[in-house]
Parts: sequence; structure tokens; C-alpha cells
Amino acid sequence: MKVTVVGAGAVGASCAEYIAIKNFASEVVLLDIKEGYAEGKAMDLMQTASLNGFDTKITGSTSDYSKTANSDICVITSGIPRKPGMTREELIGINAGIVKSVSSDLIKHSPDTIIIVVSNPMDTMTYLVHKTTDLPKNRIIGMGGALDSARFKYRLAEALGAPISDVDGMVIGGHSDKGMVPLTRLATRNSVPVTEFISDERLDQVREDTKVGGATLTKLLGTSAWYAPGAAVSGLVQAIACDQKKIFPCSTMLEGEYGLNDLCIGVPVVLGRNGIEKIVEIELNDAEAAHMKESAEGVSKTNGLLEL
Ligand code: 2OP
Repeated sequence: MKVTVVGAGAVGASCAEYIAIKNFASEVVLLDIKEGYAEGKAMDLMQTASLNGFDTKITGSTSDYSKTANSDICVITSGIPRKPGMTREELIGINAGIVKSVSSDLIKHSPDTIIIVVSNPMDTMTYLVHKTTDLPKNRIIGMGGALDSARFKYRLAEALGAPISDVDGMVIGGHSDKGMVPLTRLATRNSVPVTEFISDERLDQVREDTKVGGATLTKLLGTSAWYAPGAAVSGLVQAIACDQKKIFPCSTMLEGEYGLNDLCIGVPVVLGRNGIEKIVEIELNDAEAAHMKESAEGVSKTNGLLEL
């Protein structure tokens, strides 16, 4: 199993590290445009192999896509991260050109690959890959909901005073500060609905804290987060690589599902060796459906900024 991660910045390097530590991939290629940067990160990570107990071979490359040839899965993290006060959507001007050229270079060397898009604005970047490559829709996946759901569970556990291992919950919709739809109605504490334990007012706060989870960290860190994004995307890579048939909320091209067409947005999907193996349509209540529609309108508006 060969995985390429484009972008050896904090998110890409964290993703490579978590993939290696999970030890399911034979090879991870880390690629960056900055001279020697990916090679240095790869070597530093390889020097943790005996300490962290993995056999995965991590190598680095400066812009040489031939080194990524025949990758089963390619993760695109390249592009600029947001600064405090910025929205993810403001990154489109620079990141769209990067994602378009990176995806083209990857597919040239790995025509059968599955692409996972992390670069922001992620839903629009995922849509861009659909519109500028010939990859089938099951092999183009946007990572946002897995990260947002992890933040949702963090906030729910905080509100519950419970261990995160007891909490389950999912965030669908756009990966944007206003567009996320945390499904509080379906969240559980060891199969018990969280609504049994948390007031509506507190759940409202959990929803709002979840939606600005990325912005909160960007304000604290001065740049975008990287540990949770890297861990979230490594979970998608593992589900595909190991054919796990796990359900994650991922950004995928909708063709009528949830009453939506011609856009990529976060919905529950089954991930396996073929990438998106099934889009799972769950029954939304009126409020959730309205939020999803509003979120889709926001994503479509950002898509409209693309020069396709
Ligand atoms: C985040 O929410 C980088 O979009 C990513 O942290």
C-alpha cells in the first residue's frame, strides 16, 4: 500500500506520521515544493521508526512527482493555511491553482489512485478536482467532516463530563465556520441520546463551539490546526487501505442525494478499498434539512468563484 501526501507542512507531516504509526502502509511519500523540506521531514519521521515501532518507509521529494508513481491513495494538503480572522473561503484564490496542478501531476503518475482533498476551502477544492480531472466520483474524497466530528465529540464530552470514548456524533454539511451541521439529535453517550443529559441551551453552545473549532485554534495558534486534521485524514486513509467499510462524513459529489446536485459537501459515506462505496442518506428533521440546504447554498456560492 503506497500513500502520497502532498504538502509537508504541519498537516501533511502529521498525516504521514499517523499513517506510519498505524503501520498499515508499506510506503508513504511526502512531497513539497520547498527544497529539501519533505526530505528532511521524512528523515526525521523515519528516525522515530524504532521508537514508535513502525516499518512503514517514509521518503521525501522536492516536487518530483515520479517518486509518487503508482500511489494507491494521494492526500492533498498543499496550499496556504488561514490566518486568524480569515475564513477558509478566502484561501480559494491561491489554493485553487495549487490543487488543480497537484491533482493533475498526481494522476499523471498514479492514474488509478484515490484522492483525498484537505486543502481549503475543502468542499470547493474537492469539487475542483471533480471538474478538472477524469477520476470517477468514488475516488475523490474531501476530508472535513471527520475532523469536525472529532471536534464535536470533544465538545460533547466536555459538556457531558464523560470520556470521549463514550461519545459518538457526526457533523455533516460544508466544512466552513457557518456551514457545518452538527447532528446533536443523533449524538449519543454509549447509545444513550445526549439530549438525556444536556440541556438545549448547552447543546446550542456545543454546536456553535464545534462550528468555530478551526477558527478557535487558528486564533490561539496564529495558523490552522494540524494534529486533529492530520489524524482525521489518516483515519480515512486507513479505512480505504484496509477496506474497513467504516462510515465517515466526507465531502463527496452529490447527484440528487439529500436533494442536492452538482456540489461536494459532507455527508455520511461508507469508505472501503474503492473509496466512497456508498452514500448513506439519513432522514433529517426539518431544522437539519434547512441547515443542510443553507450550507449547500454557501458551498455553491464559493464554487462559483472558481474559474473552471
Ligand atoms: C481546520 O478546520 C484546517 O480546515 C482545517 O482546522
